[in-house]
Amino acid sequence: MPSSPPTPRPAPPADQYINLRAEDRFVPTRALRAAYIRYEESRSPSAINYVPLPERGLELGIVDSGAPALARAISSTLCRSLERAKNERGGHLPTAVVERVQLEIISPRGVARLWGTHGHRFVLTREVDRETRELVATILVGRSKDTIFFFTGRYNNLRHSTIAEEVDFTQPAGRDPHQRWFDLFAFPDVERFKPRAYHHIANFVVAPEHRGQGLSRFLLDAIVRKYSRDHLEARGAPIEHSQHLLCGRGFWQIGDPPWLSRMQALGFYLRWGGESFFLERDWAPLPPIYEGARRITNLEYNRAFGLPQRYEGRAPPASGAAHLLDRVPEVIRLARDPRAKLQYFQTMFDFLGGAP
Ligand SMILES: CC(C)(COP(=O)(O)OP(=O)(O)OC[C@H]1O[C@@H](n2cnc3c(N)ncnc32)[C@H](O)[C@@H]1OP(=O)(O)O)[C@@H](O)C(=O)NCCC(=O)NCCS
Repeated sequence: MPSSPPTPRPAPPADQYINLRAEDRFVPTRALRAAYIRYEESRSPSAINYVPLPERGLELGIVDSGAPALARAISSTLCRSLERAKNERGGHLPTAVVERVQLEIISPRGVARLWGTHGHRFVLTREVDRETRELVATILVGRSKDTIFFFTGRYNNLRHSTIAEEVDFTQPAGRDPHQRWFDLFAFPDVERFKPRAYHHIANFVVAPEHRGQGLSRFLLDAIVRKYSRDHLEARGAPIEHSQHLLCGRGFWQIGDPPWLSRMQALGFYLRWGGESFFLERDWAPLPPIYEGARRITNLEYNRAFGLPQRYEGRAPPASGAAHLLDRVPEVIRLARDPRAKLQYFQTMFDFLGGAP
């Protein structure tokens, strides 16, 4: 009997693609201005709904990431930046992982519909001509301090307060019920997974064309000065826009290992003991890791990012409130386990004052 032809896979939606089109970073000024959010309960309702930053000829605002021109511009900036993280280009991630993220999370569709619905999407733009602006940097900031944008590849937009109920920690990884998804990871206990008073951040990127001009620091500084409620109140500064304010104490990031040093250069600090690891199982080997052409072990990878040596014989930070100091011995143990590979660091950034 002839076998029936395989069912064709449905074509992905038109806005779900890997967006490497550099020209998409240019947006019509009208579309940008129309996409800026106005917060109905703003304490400054008659103010404009974005922030001109004449000192660098830039403009900052929170946009509706569902506006198609904005979703494309943001996606283009994020996808092109992440290209450089591919192992085959000297980056730290397997190509398949990068492409999954590019397609599912930071495609125009992902930008518009996934984490964007739970975050304030800040864009920093510069004028190109009277009708056009160029997106030079962006960051996504959790609207609620309770939001966690992602938790392993299977959960998005979780609420920290209900994580224990919402996540099925016994779910199988695949078909075999004995092989469990959460056996593949080691992370802090969920109660303390996120520091409560901080906003989760993600997608923090400066367009590849504009690196090396201090724009990332400028963006962070502008958000703090113009959007942090505590910072505005501490200075008695006026609220110059009719958008939301950030009511948390700062930012919290779950960051890929190579990001730690750059985030530290920008004023973020390591959350001690907040590391996550992949755990290799016989039934779930990890993709090989390369440093240049040479294949390296998990232990070498961990060491390359300062583990466990960054904790050995080091005095913990003086103000330990948000740190997970009691988990540090476990992190040291994991970093020395040949089957454990560092997945993420956690970093934090305070709106008021420097690092503790
Ligand atoms: C990280 C990023 C936002 C910085 O952009 P930028 O504004 O062009 O950075 P600058 O070149 O002006 O550097 C700002 C500071 O970060 C440091 N820095 C930048 N890239 C770095 C790197 N790869 N490693 C270590 N430090 C780095 C710089 O030395 C500088 O610090 P300094 O002033 O004390 O010397 C940008 O490189 C980027 O978009 N990277 C890809 C995405 C990413 O890694 N995002 C962060 C995690 S979400």
